[in-house]
Amino acid sequence: MQEETTVLSNEQAGVGCRRLRLGAPGVASVARPGQFVHVRVPALDPGAMRRPISICDADRASGVLTLLFKLVGRGTEALARVAPGDRVDILGPLGTGFPMPEAADVALVGGGYGVAPLYFLAKTLLGAPSAPRIALFVGGRSAPDILLAEDFSALGVDVHVATQDGSLGAHGLVTAPLDQWLNETLADARHATDARHATDARVAICACGPAPMLRALDERALRLGLPAWLSLDRRMACGVGACLGCVQRVRSGRGGETTLARVCVDGPMFPAGKIVWD
Ligand SMILES: Cc1cc2nc3c(=O)[nH]c(=O)nc-3n(C[C@H](O)[C@H](O)[C@H](O)COP(=O)(O)OP(=O)(O)OC[C@H]3O[C@@H](n4cnc5c(N)ncnc54)[C@H](O)[C@@H]3O)c2cc1C
Ligand code: FES
Repeated sequence: MQEETTVLSNEQAGVGCRRLRLGAPGVASVARPGQFVHVRVPALDPGAMRRPISICDADRASGVLTLLFKLVGRGTEALARVAPGDRVDILGPLGTGFPMPEAADVALVGGGYGVAPLYFLAKTLLGAPSAPRIALFVGGRSAPDILLAEDFSALGVDVHVATQDGSLGAHGLVTAPLDQWLNETLADARHATDARHATDARVAICACGPAPMLRALDERALRLGLPAWLSLDRRMACGVGACLGCVQRVRSGRGGETTLARVCVDGPMFPAGKIVWD
């Protein structure tokens, strides 16, 4: 749907990052974790492309939609200047959401602003009747790239931080603490069930972030036989499947056939083993 929203607040949320709260009762009432909205940035000319931003939170009762965005260029810098009371036109919710994993333990893995859709997912999972245990693995180049860690902690999520320069959390890639957690969690699960095959359904991975991180997770999920869903980040034009500007080669069958998927409508979520990495 296309919705004319009202800016409720636009606050700094870390270095070079903003948290935008919009009065968007239509989109907020149907949004699912992992979906995004395509935002028309008010200060740009009306013919300018919309910018895709993940839904970081959606509150059905109040109709409030929260977006978290990093200032990287003309569009996001202009969006950073909208003020309470301004009107912002959005299209959404778009894309496939994360399926709700039926696992006892869920690892959420985010790189940079990739934590935004994971926050909505964590909140939704924790609100379900049989809520899983959730661990968040968040990585970035340095401390300012680590976003929302405290917000996840406040939800009761077990948060693990890694930075490549060691300025916050573990020194190195986010896959190091994840590997340790996977070893421990899978060992516990095997112990509990005493049946190796039964562990598969007990641990799941949901991730959003840069392609090298997603590829590393894809390999791990396939090697360990774990269900995983990876949210791809692509530059987008139409956002609704019409322009083919966001295509990704994916596996289409067991015989090694491949086809092109449109990330905006067939994704951005793809299960482990689906994406053909360049
Ligand atoms: C499904 C989806 C969800 C997204 N969710 C979020 C989110 O929650 N928060 C957030 O901050 N950003 C998110 N993004 C990325 C966001 O759309 C871009 O950062 C934004 O469109 C850049 O617009 P701009 O005009 O500021 O930058 P531009 O001037 O267009 O580009 C500035 C720089 O950013 C790079 N860039 C632009 N778009 C992307 C992209 N999609 N991925 C990687 N690099 C890009 C360009 O190559 C260039 O180097 C998402 C993208 C997609 C596809
Ligand atoms: S952005 Fe146009 S088809 Fe995906």
